[in-house]
Parts: sequence; C-alpha cells; structure tokens
Amino acid sequence: MDERESLEKRTGFAGSITEYVDVMVEQVRQQVGDKRVLCALSGGVDSSVCAAIVHKAVGDQLVCVFVDHGLMRAGEPEMVDQLFGDHFGMNLISVDAVDRFLGKLEGVDDPERKRKIIGEEFIRVFEEEARSLGQIDYLVQGTIYPDIIESDSDKGVVKSHHNVGGLPEDFDFELVEPVKYLFKDEVRAVGEALGLPHELVWRQPFPGPGLAVRVVGALTPDKVRMVRESDAIFRAEVAAAGLEGEVWQYFTVLPGTRSVGVTDGYRTYGQAIVLRAVLSSDAMSAGVAELPWSLLNKVTLRICAEVEGVNRVMYDTTPKPPGTIEWE
Ligand code: XMP
Repeated sequence: MDERESLEKRTGFAGSITEYVDVMVEQVRQQVGDKRVLCALSGGVDSSVCAAIVHKAVGDQLVCVFVDHGLMRAGEPEMVDQLFGDHFGMNLISVDAVDRFLGKLEGVDDPERKRKIIGEEFIRVFEEEARSLGQIDYLVQGTIYPDIIESDSDKGVVKSHHNVGGLPEDFDFELVEPVKYLFKDEVRAVGEALGLPHELVWRQPFPGPGLAVRVVGALTPDKVRMVRESDAIFRAEVAAAGLEGEVWQYFTVLPGTRSVGVTDGYRTYGQAIVLRAVLSSDAMSAGVAELPWSLLNKVTLRICAEVEGVNRVMYDTTPKPPGTIEWE
C-alpha cells in the first residue's frame, strides 16, 4: 500500500524516475547558467546524488566542499576524499572544522539548539569557502521530500533538519535543490541511473548533524569517541554477518546514562551504549530490525571490551512512530 503522493503530483512530470533525471539536469543547467556552484558534500546518498546531477549539468563550474565537523563516522572523511576527489575527479575541497564545531557546541544540551548551531555553522563555513574562491552564487543542498514535510508540518516541527530549518536568515547563496521532491528510494534510483557505485547508492543514511544527534545532551570529545568507536564495531559485525543490505539504518547512541558494572572483579561506573537498527523504505516510518541474538551478543561483548568507558549495551525496540529513527 503506497499512500504517498505520486512523482507526477509532486513534480508535474508524468514519466518514470529515471526519465526524470534529464529533467533535473536540465533544470539545474537553466537555473545556474554560467555561474559557479558550491556543493555541500557530506558523503551521504542525497548530497552525492545531487553532486552527480550538478556535475553532469555544469561540470567544472561545480566545486564540492566537504566539511569535517568532527562528528563523522570512523573512516568517513578519508572515504569522501578518495571517492569524489580521486575516483570522480570533481573539484573537492576538504575543510577541517573540527575544533570550530566542537567549540560552538560545548555545553549545549538542547537537541534543537544543537541542530541549529550545526546547520548555521555549515553555512558559515561555506560562505567563507565561497569568499576564498571568488564569486560563487549557488549552493547545492541535498534536501529530500521528507525533510520538507517534517520541517513544515502543520503538526509542528518534528526536528529541524540541518539543511532546511537550520538555515540562518542572512545567508547569501541561492539554493539549488535538485532532489527536493524525491523520496529516498527515488534518490537511490537516480544515483544508479547516473552510474554511482552500488556501495554509495545503498549506503545507509547519515544525518547532517552527524554523531551530534547520537550523543544525547551536551557533547564532549570523549562521548563522541565512544559513539564513533561503538558504531564502527556495530557496522563491522553487521557486515560480517552478511546483513548490511537487510537493514535500513543501524548505529549506536550514547544516552548519557551511567550504571554500575564489574570488570575483572573491579567495580566500574560507565556509560551505556544503545544499539539501534531499523527497517524502512523512506524514513517516514520504521520498524525495528530483529537482529540475531548471536550478533547482538557479540557486538555487546566487543563494545564493552574495546570501547573505553562503556560497561553496558542496550537494544532500542521502538518503531517510528512513536520514536524517531535518531534520538535527537
Ligand atoms: P528521524 O530521526 O527524523 O530521521 O526519524 C529520519 C531520517 O532522516 C535522517 N536525518 C537527517 N538527515 N539531516 C539529514 O540530512 C538531518 O538533520 C537529519 N536528521 C535525521 C535520519 O538519519 C533518518 O534516516
């Protein structure tokens, strides 16, 4: 049962999603003309597909900027450089903004404020990059249809996605949002039509604010480390079990709850880590993945043994709704 609006209703285009690719490329070409475009590349499916569309439309007029805000998953900044810089040969600038983001977020525990700060800081970084590159008029954003629905809902804002509600009012780029009328599965179909690698197209979604929304409350470098290291273990074990393609999203969360434990006969008072694994097709709703107990057990023991400061692991059994996929 598909209750969502048809592609035609959203875009006015009556053909298939792959035929719509040429429409998007042409729209970008028309909008941008001979101007230069900056792309907020995150390495996720949405921004990668957008970069490919815009690259196809205007080639070297596109400059991609990857901001390392210190909230990426393990190995991610390296992956972005390799794929877009080396493999695709796009103009790519990697910006190390780790201290800048963590400084702004210090002591901030409200989820919406965290998201707003990160979204605003992103735009600031891009503005600075644009200034250093000379005249650039357009900014590509990987906004997708569910972001718009959730941010504009008359039921009130669920979360400010950093590429919609988090925009400061005084930014001075015009936005290019090639996939803003598409759902996630359609974005993936477009990625495949454009010849992006399968691993990238089927890569699980990762939120713009990164690991910041997976550390509940105020960030510390140590809490970010615990989430990053536990996430890497969880990802490795899901892959080793051959379940990578079966689960929509799987990651770890640090809720900030400490509890008493025992290791080698000594009392510990450590952080808990929550495992979250969900099934979905468009992130609007989600069910909980029934991961094998042997996998959960192995991940639990590895995290407790390998991630310093963690002594307890839990499994989140909440579907969306009533939970959201991320914790913040
Ligand atoms: P929630 O947590 O609202 O997430 O159920 C729905 C999907 O969106 C991802 N997500 C984001 N994606 N910017 C993004 O581009 C964001 O700020 C953001 N927040 C959540 C989330 O991972 C899930 O796939």
